[in-house]
Amino acid sequence: MAKLIIILFLLYFSSLSSAAESQLTTDFYSKSCPRFLDIVRDTITNKQITTPTTAAAALRLFFHDCFPNGCDASVLVSSTAFTTAERDSSINLSLPGDGFDVVIRAKTALELACPNTVSCSDVLAVAVRDLLVTVGGPYYEISLGRRDSRVSKSSLLLAGSLPLPSSPISKLVEQFASRGFSVREMVALSGAHTIGFSHCKEFTARVNDTAGYNPRFADALRKACSNYRNDPTISVFNDVMTPNKFDNMYFQNIPKGLGLLESDHGLYSDPRTRPFVELYARDQARFFRDFAGAMQKLSVYGVLTGPRGEIRRRCDAIN
Ligand code: HEM
Repeated sequence: MAKLIIILFLLYFSSLSSAAESQLTTDFYSKSCPRFLDIVRDTITNKQITTPTTAAAALRLFFHDCFPNGCDASVLVSSTAFTTAERDSSINLSLPGDGFDVVIRAKTALELACPNTVSCSDVLAVAVRDLLVTVGGPYYEISLGRRDSRVSKSSLLLAGSLPLPSSPISKLVEQFASRGFSVREMVALSGAHTIGFSHCKEFTARVNDTAGYNPRFADALRKACSNYRNDPTISVFNDVMTPNKFDNMYFQNIPKGLGLLESDHGLYSDPRTRPFVELYARDQARFFRDFAGAMQKLSVYGVLTGPRGEIRRRCDAIN
């Protein structure tokens, strides 16, 4: 009986969310805020020029917004005296401020041009797409019309709602599959680790056994992280070869033992994921096509439309 109720709930939720997705359109703001795309593009360009870590910061922020419970900007909300927001749950504490900042800047400019019109979740989705293009990534269309959540609670971010680098590949496959993502899409999305960095605490424990690491790379990592307990901010590029460029180097690195996280290495050791690592390592165009498709899919996951949610006036506070 309990199983039947769960299945019915899942069916109901998936029909709700696919109905919501179908209400999104690429020209949603063409009349109500015709300068929407220009304003976002200007803001992200200025921010990325002055702070080149912004693209990676915003991409991870977007993943952490969408994956647990849909792309609804719930991760942008700040905690109050009464509620600890998602942003302050332990897994989100390492999200860098620049991802939040670029969205707030774009939203501030948008509120001047067209008040109470554009949702924070749409701003985040478009800002990430445009930031990726500035670092060399593929362009993809973003459907618009998302609304923002009216709830953001750390307590609702259940264990297992975001992947951990120590999780076995089977667990990661399951987490993505339960949200409708195939193994291939999971590997393509993991290619996001071709930019940005990770803090030593996320990988040092694994560098001590030889699991998959190139010995010289492992040595360099141990040296780089030797003082991380005194200075937890020490971090290392995810893609040691071309850290600031969105390309397929992440996939070329993994077979050489130059992956950083345990989960990155795992993609090469598991027979389900390895063929896609090899495919993307030799064919960047293929990686870009698959990544763009998977990002489009991620960007409509669990969105709120119609009467659900709200257009937040400030991205860091529910109206
Ligand atoms: C497959 C499972 C995944 C795991 C286990 C994982 C785990 C991690 C971890 C531990 C970090 C380092 C965080 C830090 O130390 O600050 C990180 C960074 C990052 N992740 Fe993932 N991640 C996964 C998938 C993804 C996906 C699907 C995306 C985006 C589509 C993504 C985008 C990023 C980016 C861009 C960074 C660098 C952030 C920065 O430089 O500020 N990750 N990830």
